[in-house]
Amino acid sequence: MKFYELSPEERRRQLVEAGLMTPADAALWAGTPGLDPAVAAHLIENQIGQIALPLGVVRDLPVNGRSVQVPLATEEPSVVAAANNGARIAALNGGVQAQAPAHLVVGEVVFATAAPDRVVALLAAHEAEIRAVAAAAHPSIVRRGGGLRTVTVTRLDGFVKLALGVDSQAAMGANIVNTIAEAVGHAAAAWVGEPPLVAILTNGDTEPTVATVTLAPDTLATRNVAGAEIARRIAQLSRLATVDVARAVTHNKGIMNGVGAAVLATGNDWRAVAAGAHAFAAASGRYQPLATWHLQEDGRLAGRIALPLQVGVVGGAMSALPSAQAALRLGGFDSVAALQQALAALGLVQNLAALRALAGPGIQAGHMALQANSLAIAAGATGDEIAVVAATLRGTAMSLAAAQQALAALRKDEQQ
Ligand code: MEV
Repeated sequence: MKFYELSPEERRRQLVEAGLMTPADAALWAGTPGLDPAVAAHLIENQIGQIALPLGVVRDLPVNGRSVQVPLATEEPSVVAAANNGARIAALNGGVQAQAPAHLVVGEVVFATAAPDRVVALLAAHEAEIRAVAAAAHPSIVRRGGGLRTVTVTRLDGFVKLALGVDSQAAMGANIVNTIAEAVGHAAAAWVGEPPLVAILTNGDTEPTVATVTLAPDTLATRNVAGAEIARRIAQLSRLATVDVARAVTHNKGIMNGVGAAVLATGNDWRAVAAGAHAFAAASGRYQPLATWHLQEDGRLAGRIALPLQVGVVGGAMSALPSAQAALRLGGFDSVAALQQALAALGLVQNLAALRALAGPGIQAGHMALQANSLAIAAGATGDEIAVVAATLRGTAMSLAAAQQALAALRKDEQQ
């Protein structure tokens, strides 16, 4: 049986037997996914409950010669299936190559001033003090080999910005950078003669992670469309996204389907990643696709994605969320770069799967087949009824009413 045809328990068992999941993590995910009530009550303000999402896995995403098991938390039925499909095609083609940038998170200390030249000169003259204040503000990150790396002063219209590039090591870095930015802002107020307007990290100034893949057209064929034609249409869809912002938004939404789900599963800040990705997409002044595809002279389809990924593998809420830690273990994400490379590769194959479906059978065929389960659940099916009602729905014009009818018929049958 294929992995997707197994029960969740059998899937976990297979992953444990393959040495990809620890028995303890399998037991964690087999149990109720809820947080310890005391943890939930203290993680946020005014906590009144918890929400749960299914956690899926992309099997064997090939990244830099490694097979990565990528955990995804999502409510959208087709996301995991599409990612697995894209990963399978990438594997047939030698896999995805990905490169992560040096991990630098930037804090901004901004002064609103009518005398920008004076403030620029004062800040530039105090670089040694800035570095000393930063080191004293967060000694533990310095001990771990990180800390303030770059100091840049920029004049903006009505403002002067001091940008502090911090190596936050394995952490996403928000708390580390904000602590350093506030301490530097406080100290700089004395030199500048006024406090800064703001001292906070930016979710925008992150270098992108880049991933590429090159595909033989015959690996793209669908049931009714030849691979070369699919490749040609994917390249056209990619070009369309560069000239039509409305299409680029949906193109990128499909990429974030996977990236956001993996960021969420690993306990990272999906808002930071989403805000950063969309700002990067618009950096040229016109919103552009994050992933692009073009046909090479040899007929192969080359894909490339570039997107900033402000993530970490320790610290933050991650440490308080046992499922996030298990997800990091499942992915083997022992460094920020390993996670960033897998996320970029995932975004690229997610986009590939979406464009291939759009270029071939259209999106609804696959979506609706997977939607059958959601419709069955929405109609009130429980337990074993879900699969039976979904099977009845497949191949028909699917609707909630049809699912309700199928469920009523099933229950009537069972009573007889
Ligand atoms: C659906 O969640 C995502 C897609 O719309 C992405 C795309 O159109 O490229 C299929």
